[in-house]
Amino acid sequence: MTVYFIGAGPGAKDLITVRGAELLARAGLVLYAGSLVSRDMLEFCSSGAEIHDTAELDLEKQEALYIRAKERGWDVARLHSGDPAIYGATAEQMRRLEKLGIPYEIVPGVSSFTSAAAVLGAELTKPLVSQSIIITRTSGRASPVPEGENLGSLAAHGATMAIFLSGARMDETLAELMKYYPSDTPAALVYKATWPQEKKLCGTLQSLSEEAKPEEWRLSTMLLVGRVLDAGEAAESQLYSQEYSHRYRKASQ
Ligand SMILES: C[S@@+](CC[C@H](N)C(=O)[O-])C[C@H]1O[C@@H](n2cnc3c(N)ncnc32)[C@H](O)[C@@H]1O
Repeated sequence: MTVYFIGAGPGAKDLITVRGAELLARAGLVLYAGSLVSRDMLEFCSSGAEIHDTAELDLEKQEALYIRAKERGWDVARLHSGDPAIYGATAEQMRRLEKLGIPYEIVPGVSSFTSAAAVLGAELTKPLVSQSIIITRTSGRASPVPEGENLGSLAAHGATMAIFLSGARMDETLAELMKYYPSDTPAALVYKATWPQEKKLCGTLQSLSEEAKPEEWRLSTMLLVGRVLDAGEAAESQLYSQEYSHRYRKASQ
């Protein structure tokens, strides 16, 4: 018996990995984060599987379900939105499983920040523009951000930023970012990437702060910031250049 932490991807049913879908089909017990994981994903489950939405369960109740699955010899599929390694609250579950002597494995998923980039048709790393992506969030009641990681100190790098979990504090987040990035820095909001309700708003930090109605972007919103979002802004990578040789291809000029 094993607990599989499975990345469900950003929402669309066909953006779970093949491995994740196969494990879901085999699991006797399925726990899913109902606030972010689409119920469509449950169509992969076997008809006999026991299925719980973890929005209604504290950690102790989840632990009790893991213990019962172990007694019954069931594999468990624990579905997390996007990739489980990012804001998944998986570490505390894994610690408990270790104490219980229950083996676990992680199956990665498509994160919402790369899904948001896909919605925008954007590359988040461009030569000489930005080669770094900072993944961060603003503090929440459940998870405060450590002192040294405040938005200002991260924004000071001028790199690409993917800001999670901050829809409810959009106004102050944009205002804080404009203290460090120029206010005409390209920025975009993507709501529910890959869901039928998906929408986006592209502009600059300044224009988003004027145009975005906070109530429309409260939940399931990704904020991407950086000059990489400017389609005209890019030196080309040497990788596919005719003058560039590497291990697999000789320069043709
Ligand atoms: C608890 S975190 C989970 C992140 C997830 N592990 C991932 O890799 O995308 C939830 C936050 O992820 C972002 N998010 C999740 N799904 C999204 C989607 N489909 N579109 C835009 N943002 C999304 C939002 O910022 C949301 O507040």
